[in-house]
Amino acid sequence: MQEFLPYLLALHGARDWLQAARDCGLTEAELRRAVQHAQREYGQVLVVAGNGHVDFTAAGEELVARARELAGAVDALQRCFAESRRRSVVAPLLQRRSVSPKRLTGPGPDAAEIDLMIEAALHAPDHGSLHPWRVLVFAQEHRARLADLFEQEKLRRDPLAPRSDIERAREHATRSPALLGFVVSPRARTQVPLREQWLAAGAALGNFMNAAHQLGFGGIVLSGERCFDAVLGAELGLASTEWLAGFISLGRIAQAPPQRKPVALDAVRAQWIPGPSLAAAELGPRVS
Ligand SMILES: Cc1cc2nc3c(=O)[nH]c(=O)nc-3n(C[C@H](O)[C@H](O)[C@H](O)COP(=O)(O)O)c2cc1C
Repeated sequence: MQEFLPYLLALHGARDWLQAARDCGLTEAELRRAVQHAQREYGQVLVVAGNGHVDFTAAGEELVARARELAGAVDALQRCFAESRRRSVVAPLLQRRSVSPKRLTGPGPDAAEIDLMIEAALHAPDHGSLHPWRVLVFAQEHRARLADLFEQEKLRRDPLAPRSDIERAREHATRSPALLGFVVSPRARTQVPLREQWLAAGAALGNFMNAAHQLGFGGIVLSGERCFDAVLGAELGLASTEWLAGFISLGRIAQAPPQRKPVALDAVRAQWIPGPSLAAAELGPRVS
């Protein structure tokens, strides 16, 4: 009986054999046969015999009402499954959180895993495919030297820094199981505006962090004052046209980060409503 219900619903909606048959992708004869089958199975006359216009008997009306309820319930269930499937597809993106170095433990990602994260970063939206960024990988054996450079940078900024602050600066170079630098490297001589190159670099960084998360690592990007230090930048091999965006700490998650505070979508989403056209002269200066 179940397979005939869509035909009865179509017939009830159209009230016309030919139209309903078209709606169901059947010929009129096939639809009529299907309804006869349904009547035999149900044991009652559902449709008043006749050509063209279709009337339903009381039993037919009752069956259609029940079928509508059933279809509504099935629809609701299907919507629920679809929503759950959609959420599970993007779950890795919804679940990522930054994990501070003190919550990380070893082992960090190996070279192949880092390469995969970089490959993911290379798949971010990127106007002109310029990949205006690069990643510095700090090998374990060079982390102590990096700590010296962090200490020197701290002392340049604050020559009287207490030992505890200097230790904290050094720790940033040595603490997390893996450490990388993310460098924004805008390309000159291109039509792509600088701001779009920065956005592409940000998108790449986002992909990198999401790939790390999906590979089971926790991580965080931290910049701090040292990223603005020209001497440290030069010591890390940056050109004067490049920017050290931040250091990426990576490792296994020893302690879960706190839950993310939900942000209402309305804070970042609005429907555009067309307004009157404006002449450029009517606009005030743009705040940059
Ligand atoms: C380029 C860049 C530099 C950042 N530098 C810092 C930083 O110096 N200190 C800090 O607390 N968070 C910094 N953050 C933010 C954290 O990496 C992290 O995104 C933030 O704490 C929000 O956590 P969530 O990623 O779980 O939403 C930086 C993020 C980016 C993209």
